[in-house]
Amino acid sequence: MATDAGKPIPRFPDGFVWGVSTSAHQIEGAVDEREPSVWDVFTGEPGRVKDGSTADVACDHYHRYREDVALLAALGVDAYRFSVSWPRVNSPGGLDFYDRLVDELCAAGVAPVPTLFHWDLPASLDWLERDTAERFAAYVSVVAERLGDRVGKWITLNEPAEHTLLGHALGAHAPGRRLLFDALPVAHHQLLAHGLAVRALRAAGARDIGIANSHGPAWAASEKDEDVAAAGFYDTLLNRLFAEPVILGEYPDGLGELMPGDVAADLKVIAEPVDWYGVNYYAPSLVGAPQGTDTEYGGLPLPAELPFSVREIEGRPVTDFGWPVVPEALTELLTGFRERYGDRLPPVVITENGCSYEGVDDQERIAYLDAHIRALHAASEAGVDVRGYFVWSLMDNFEWAEGYARRFGLVHVDYETLTRTPKASYHWFRDVLRAARG
Ligand code: BGC
Ligand code: BGC
Repeated sequence: MATDAGKPIPRFPDGFVWGVSTSAHQIEGAVDEREPSVWDVFTGEPGRVKDGSTADVACDHYHRYREDVALLAALGVDAYRFSVSWPRVNSPGGLDFYDRLVDELCAAGVAPVPTLFHWDLPASLDWLERDTAERFAAYVSVVAERLGDRVGKWITLNEPAEHTLLGHALGAHAPGRRLLFDALPVAHHQLLAHGLAVRALRAAGARDIGIANSHGPAWAASEKDEDVAAAGFYDTLLNRLFAEPVILGEYPDGLGELMPGDVAADLKVIAEPVDWYGVNYYAPSLVGAPQGTDTEYGGLPLPAELPFSVREIEGRPVTDFGWPVVPEALTELLTGFRERYGDRLPPVVITENGCSYEGVDDQERIAYLDAHIRALHAASEAGVDVRGYFVWSLMDNFEWAEGYARRFGLVHVDYETLTRTPKASYHWFRDVLRAARG
């Protein structure tokens, strides 16, 4: 796949940030030391998680964070993207954990980059309610007050698109609702929460704020009008619906009319300027007209009534998750954003990129990451202001509805003994980081 693999990774502009990512619910465990989240409720329902597992222990990072920070330090990353669990912050002693983690990171010379929401909503709350956005901002103020003296970069939300789509439209993730297009208020309330959080962070003195949105090119299955239209609609739902309110202060294609509340006033909040724009990229999608039947794609149940269908991309290697490996689509995505939004596009940071493969001698992961970093460099050469790259993930973890069946880590986790074993990709990435500084 990657014809350049083995050659040195080209140099990125000065100040480029190299990091790895995780999220609270996927690694922390220690669920009995905090109030429940929607994910605890969801995993407790039979049949929701494919291997029947829960995140009750996960990687037990809550108790082993020192060992994990040592792994980060030995890897040599500039920054570590983790998420703060809102239900934990609501619980006695919860914020103390993040305080200790941030101290440990600073002592190790790794910049802490907290994400304030990565899908683990307190079980008592609901994104269908507007009030959740205001409560989010209040929680963000508390966290910023406590950690703001040591945290530079902040991320408001992780992938509101997936949380809306998988959690509320299709029911594949917590809270397990199948509302289809009636899930749109969930998108609006999360975007509003983002804007209110930017204001709360600014009020606490933060100067380096972004959002982590998931994006990927939507390719039309053919040149037929109905396939092109379906792919355009999919692009609007997955890319533009979450990018444009933040970047342009408007909803695409009249979707604002379907949103609740005083949308024009809310858009002013949502468009509070960010300092950079985070992109989580995994793969492009091939999209065509509906095919009249329920389908499944990459583990996702897609009901027949959706106005599009997602098809297999042929002739490409696939990861263990079945996702096609298409590095050049990352270049296409970013140069496409640059064309679409021009100078209004903030500097871009890749906040997640990675792949699921078994094994500790993970040569496929090395090939995947190598090719994607080169694709990112190509976007930078083509004029996109690219400021950083974070691998998903530091270590194998609880992969949501897939349970522990998908391994995205640079570090292998044995879920019986909780032993961490750096994979070949960990050593490879360490060498990439050394060379980038040399
Ligand atoms: C998301 C993953 C999710 C998967 C389900 C992807 O697009 O990024 O978080 O688990 O879809 O198939
Ligand atoms: C999510 C991660 C997830 C990864 C792989 C992203 O959508 O932010 O939580 O583990 O994709 O599916």
